[in-house]
Amino acid sequence: MPLPKLLITRRVYDSVFDSLSGVFDIQHNQDKDEPLSKSDLLRKLADKDYLLSTVVDRIDEEVLAAAPGLKCIASGAVGTNNIDLKACADRGIAVTNTPDVLTETTADFAWALLMATARRLTEAEQYLRQGQWKGWSFDQLSGVDVYGSTLGILGMGRIGSAIARRAQGFGMTVLYHNRRPANDEASARYVEKDALFKESDFVVLVVPYSPQTHHIVAAKELALMKTSACLVNIARGGVVDDKALVHALETGTIRAAGLDVFEGEPALDPGFLPLSNVVLTPHIASSTRATRGAMMQLAADNLLAHAQGRALLTQVA
Ligand code: GLV
Repeated sequence: MPLPKLLITRRVYDSVFDSLSGVFDIQHNQDKDEPLSKSDLLRKLADKDYLLSTVVDRIDEEVLAAAPGLKCIASGAVGTNNIDLKACADRGIAVTNTPDVLTETTADFAWALLMATARRLTEAEQYLRQGQWKGWSFDQLSGVDVYGSTLGILGMGRIGSAIARRAQGFGMTVLYHNRRPANDEASARYVEKDALFKESDFVVLVVPYSPQTHHIVAAKELALMKTSACLVNIARGGVVDDKALVHALETGTIRAAGLDVFEGEPALDPGFLPLSNVVLTPHIASSTRATRGAMMQLAADNLLAHAQGRALLTQVA
């Protein structure tokens, strides 16, 4: 019997690839690892039964229509906003994601950005590298305290909760806002959205992207924030109105921002680049070797389960 056909859109670790070969007839991207254009994706997926995709592959109605034999999509990400889940369900295509395995790593990175914005880490490093450091002074590159401050988390899911737990070591008051209060959240207090922006010294965004959360942080929310406050976005570009944020950073409406995600990435609003009060990283919050490996393997294990008639491990549609 011919093996089911699988497209893997980007390079995966050899151990993950090996776990799939022999079970699937694989079209891969192991050598080049270049992002697939829409037309490449349509062409390569046309005769496939399975897809292992990433956060940057847009799986919309047009893509699904071009792949009539597709049975299961395993996305190597927790967020699923790049996949039309309803269209998949209508076509009977199963979809899986990678929750849990990236929670702690991603929470660590939210803290990396938070600390970097509070203490002006990248700005200080550039100052030193560019030879501007001529000696010590009392008010040199002074930042704001993290210890004892108030953290506001927008989106209290697994990652939000892991961020809140870490805040205990910093003696912080932790506030959160969600669509509904979480029953079992011991380390944070539920507040209305406006109060979150008004009262927090650090606002961390962890909400999934959807039409409801599009530009959930825009000029109005930024204006509510303290002028001494920092915004951290590890959620998705599009959750923040980047134009409004550039303006807020330029005019001192807020003190600083740490951003791992951007609307239209890998392009980003050029207004961010000259600003010294923003820390910019290229969507790497889950990127440790161990965690990216666990994400790839979980995606692969879902495909193996489907092909071998077992229950999917982490099905979203
Ligand atoms: C990354 O952004 C993910 O959703 O896993």
